[in-house]
Order: sequence, then structure tokens, then C-alpha cells
Amino acid sequence: MSQELFDKAEAKLAEINEYPVNNTEELEKYRIAFLGTKNSIKPLFAEIRNVDNARKKEFGQLLNTLKQTAEAKFKTLQSEVSQKAAQNIEIPDLTRPVNADRIGSRHPLSLVQTKIIDIFARIGFNISEGPQIEDDWHNFTALNFPPNHPARDMQDTFFLDKDMALRTHTSSVQIRVMETTKPPIRTISPGRVFRNETISARAHCQFHQVEGLYVDEGVSFADLKQTLYFFAQEMFGSDTKVQFRPSYFPFTEISAEMDVSCLVCKQEGCPICKYSGWVEILGCGMVDPNVLENCNIDSEKYTGFAFGMGVERITQQKYRINDLRLFFENDVRFLEQFNSVV
Ligand code: PHE
Repeated sequence: MSQELFDKAEAKLAEINEYPVNNTEELEKYRIAFLGTKNSIKPLFAEIRNVDNARKKEFGQLLNTLKQTAEAKFKTLQSEVSQKAAQNIEIPDLTRPVNADRIGSRHPLSLVQTKIIDIFARIGFNISEGPQIEDDWHNFTALNFPPNHPARDMQDTFFLDKDMALRTHTSSVQIRVMETTKPPIRTISPGRVFRNETISARAHCQFHQVEGLYVDEGVSFADLKQTLYFFAQEMFGSDTKVQFRPSYFPFTEISAEMDVSCLVCKQEGCPICKYSGWVEILGCGMVDPNVLENCNIDSEKYTGFAFGMGVERITQQKYRINDLRLFFENDVRFLEQFNSVV
């Protein structure tokens, strides 16, 4: 009887030694078989009572060896398996080029607006801003618009209620500045404006303007012309020509529009300048005395000039963009072209 149990224990020892373990799953099976709570060595311990007294001690020692072997082998197998797993980890190709993050670019309108601001900052103009939602007083009445002026018409203006509208020009900021600042005033006001136009390649319901205002004693139309001539040369290059055409705005007297020589065709004639060689970029004039008085500025003592330019127009000239809608669609294929422009 005893010998049979000894044989069983020896067989178990052999089983432990030969148990195949090559991966984590097999290691777990091994652990369950020989070290788990229901392991296959345990029943042999219960057999001790069936061994002859003379050999009990020997049998006990054999079972202890069995248990220790199982534990020791588990440790060895464990480190072998984890080493193997480490070797199997795929190391990526470290020399491969990285997927670079896409760097954004400044929007062309923002590039041009910044350039306009920089040019006027050099000759002493500061920046002022006003709200995009404006009341009738600042957008129309203080600017000397007669009550029935067509610009107040629903067809041009997005009204929010009887008194409030989306501003139709940045001239509203002139009023806000003159109401709160005493001359001398030298300021430019960049911003978004809105008009109720059907969207097409040549018109949009939103666009950007930069307004300019200079009020002081003795400001003349010659100052206006020289300032805008300086601007045109700085903006488009020193061979740029300008021309002033008489015009009308309720808030300036006298009024004019300024054209620059077409950059695209060098005045040879092209669709952008409609074969005239000239492109209109701004409206301007001497601030109407009524407007100064509306802002409590003494029109006997002070004179001033004002201008308002379209940022889209200038950007179209500078970068030869033929469709206004591109500015607002945010198509990255368009925007990416300004990546390297600073
Ligand atoms: N506000 C005018 C416009 O929207 C432009 C302008 C500004 C004209 C200042 C004269 C003086 O077209």
C-alpha cells in the first residue's frame, strides 16, 4: 500500500517538471494545477494516514519537496514568460517621420487688417472699437442721416427692433469716440459690419471696414489726401497711384471716394478693375460740422477728416482673390495658402 502512494508522489513530481509552459495562459493553468486552492498535490497530503508508520516521515518529506518544487518552478516559469512577452513587444520604427500637427494660419482679412492698423499706428492713430449691435443715434442720426435716407431702409439694414440694428458701417464708432474724447482725436476703428445684400461673388451680407478719424484745429482736405496717399503706398507699394473722385456721404462735406491703381493688371485692364485700371477702396471726406456739433465738439474751432475702407476690397487686390465668399467659407485649402504670410 505505501509503495503505491510513493509512486503516485513521484509521478506528480515528474508531472510538475514536465508541465509545458510557454505563455501566460499556460502559466495560469500550471498555477491552478499545482498551487491553487484545489491543486492536485493536496489530496496526497490526505493520504499520509494511509502510509506505514515506518515510512510516514519519508513520505511527508517527499510531499514537502513536491510542494517546494512546484512553487520554485512557478517562480522560474513566471520570469521566463514575462521575459518572453517583453521580447515580443513590437518596437515601432523610431526613425519614421512624425505626423506633424497641422499649424493654423492667420486669416487673410486679419493679416490685412493688422497691416492697416500698423501703417496708421506709425503716424499716430490709436485704435478704438464699438459694438456690432448699434442704436439708431450712433449708426444714423448723429451721422446726419436725414429721417428718410434710403440707407435706413429695411433693404439695406438688418433691424433688430425700431431702434436697434446691426451696424451698417464703422462710422458709428466715430460718434462714440467724439462723444467721449476731446480733440485732438486721431483714431482708427476696425470692425465687422452688416448689410442686407444677397450673397454672391461680389457682395456679402457681412464684411469688414477700418474707419479713420482725425479731428483737431486746422485739419484740411490736403491732410486727408496726404494721409491716404501715404497709406496706399505703404499698403500696395511705392509705385501705387491714387485718385480722388467727388462723392456724397451725409456725414462728410466735402466727400470723396479714393481709387488705387489696379495692382493685378498694372492698369493694363482686367476683370478685377473692370478694365478701368482703378479700384475703389474707400470713402472719405471732411467731417460735416453738424456731426461735430452732435457730439458737442465746437465746429467753429475744430475741423476733421474721416475715411472708411473695405478690408475685403483691399485683401482682394493684395492677394488677387476673385470671390468674396471665400473669406467666410473657412475652406482650409484656401486658408492654407496664407500659411507663410506674416
Ligand atoms: N461709412 C462709409 C461707408 O460705409 C464710408 C465713409 C467713412 C465715408 C467715413 C466717409 C467718411 O461706405
